[in-house]
Amino acid sequence: MAFNKIWCTVALGLLLPFSYAHTDFFTSIGHMTDLINTEKDLVVSLKDYIKAEESKLEQIKKWAEKLDQLTDTATKDPEGFLGHPVNAFKLMKRLNTEWGELESLVLKDMSDGFISNMTIQRQFFPNDEDQTGAAKALLRLQDTYNLDTDTLSRGNLPGVKHKSFLTAEDCFELGKIAYTEADYYHTELWMEQALKQLDEGEVSSADKVYILDYLSYAVYQQGDLSKAMMLTKRLLELDPEHQRANGNMKYFEYIMAKEKEANKSSTDSEDQMEKETEVKKKDYLPERRKYEMLCRGEGLKMTPRRQKRLFCRYYDGNRNPRYILGPVKQEDEWDKPRIVRFLDIISDEEIETVKELAKPRLSRATVHDPETGKLTTAHYRVSKSAWLSGYESPVVSRINTRIQDLTGLDVSTAEELQVANYGVGGQYEPHFDFGRKDEPDAFKELGTGNRIATWLFYMSDVSAGGATVFPEVGASVWPKKGTAVFWYNLFPSGEGDYSTRHAACPVLVGNKWVSNKWLHERGQEFRRPCTLSELE
Ligand code: OGA
Ligand code: FE2
Repeated sequence: MAFNKIWCTVALGLLLPFSYAHTDFFTSIGHMTDLINTEKDLVVSLKDYIKAEESKLEQIKKWAEKLDQLTDTATKDPEGFLGHPVNAFKLMKRLNTEWGELESLVLKDMSDGFISNMTIQRQFFPNDEDQTGAAKALLRLQDTYNLDTDTLSRGNLPGVKHKSFLTAEDCFELGKIAYTEADYYHTELWMEQALKQLDEGEVSSADKVYILDYLSYAVYQQGDLSKAMMLTKRLLELDPEHQRANGNMKYFEYIMAKEKEANKSSTDSEDQMEKETEVKKKDYLPERRKYEMLCRGEGLKMTPRRQKRLFCRYYDGNRNPRYILGPVKQEDEWDKPRIVRFLDIISDEEIETVKELAKPRLSRATVHDPETGKLTTAHYRVSKSAWLSGYESPVVSRINTRIQDLTGLDVSTAEELQVANYGVGGQYEPHFDFGRKDEPDAFKELGTGNRIATWLFYMSDVSAGGATVFPEVGASVWPKKGTAVFWYNLFPSGEGDYSTRHAACPVLVGNKWVSNKWLHERGQEFRRPCTLSELE
């Protein structure tokens, strides 16, 4: 993962000016707010269209009523009616010109304005990939935060301002997306939820037969044959002629019979194999499980003895003239690796400036695919980022100086300030910021050595989720607007500190802005002298 990480950064820095690919809306809130405005615009022009259509219909109605009366009178006494010369003239006129005019009015297309607005806006619409991405984000959140399907569907999330719920059709859609990913676990959950909502009487165009079709298949794929049969039976009650369901039913019965037969003569070696795969699965889980637990705030607590050694203090940057009179608040977040947090270290105005500078340049963070050698997007890094140089704004330059003053490290060899925005579901799974021994070329092009330390500003609060967690040691750092955390990635010996492995948890509610500075080894020779052993 670190390999990818490094490449993403190096390569992003180099390629950013040339990459204007699709914007991947679902990865950040920044671009999604534009869509809200687009939609507002479209509603306005839709309403204009409705007004125009209504006034057209009004004119047609009036005409119809007038003609209704007229023809009533005329048909009662046609000869008497036509005996009046004006009536005769008017009949000619109506039929020769007025009905034609009415025909034109009926045919008149009032939708021009709306349709052309749609055509223009459509080029900025999200595509299938965005819809799938947003759906997958929901599924990811469900797993990380142990949300049950019903809670998610009813929109009962912590800290939400605008409650929103999923319809049976939405649930069906989510199930289908899980299905196309061969993710039968979530297919089952969401198809079941769709069915439940329909059973509870929700009015919907979602079709129980379709839902049962997917559901029984997902259940079968996960090995629950008898439940798959029960669901197929239910489907057949609704649609006895359903071909696939009838076929499946026969097949399930056949498999059931065969399994019964096989169970009688099952051997020990099969049990053994099953156990081994179970062990393998468990072996794979720990980091993921720890990561998710930390994200939920269920991390192990430090012993009180250890906790007592964490302090907060006023810090003057080691008697830095800029901070002697106005020291900053510093708090120990963790002891090993040492993670400190600076409070009130970036102002709201500075944050706004940084966000505004970054917004037009935000693009989906990419990683280097070792197989194809190309830059690609990855599910484990879902965010948008941009790089800001100290030259382009006094605010950025001031921020860089602040980092230098407070870390005592030279920022001239650091990478530019990276600004990242995570939308709902946005995350960065466990990784190292430093380049490891097996990837010596990671930062070669930069010529400034490895990433000695990381400085991370939190530029927003996050309503729920979005912690920075360190699964190796069990630390969770919660985002708090205006603060920053700092840690060393390398020991003074230059060795990578593997306990700094960390992740950005998926945002559950709200949106997360951070910016970070990766400081490099060059330039720190006298500021942080190296040692021979990592323990010094
Ligand atoms: C990173 C990173 C953590 C966070 O961008 O390398 O680890 O909380 N970010 O955003
Ligand atoms: Fe990181």
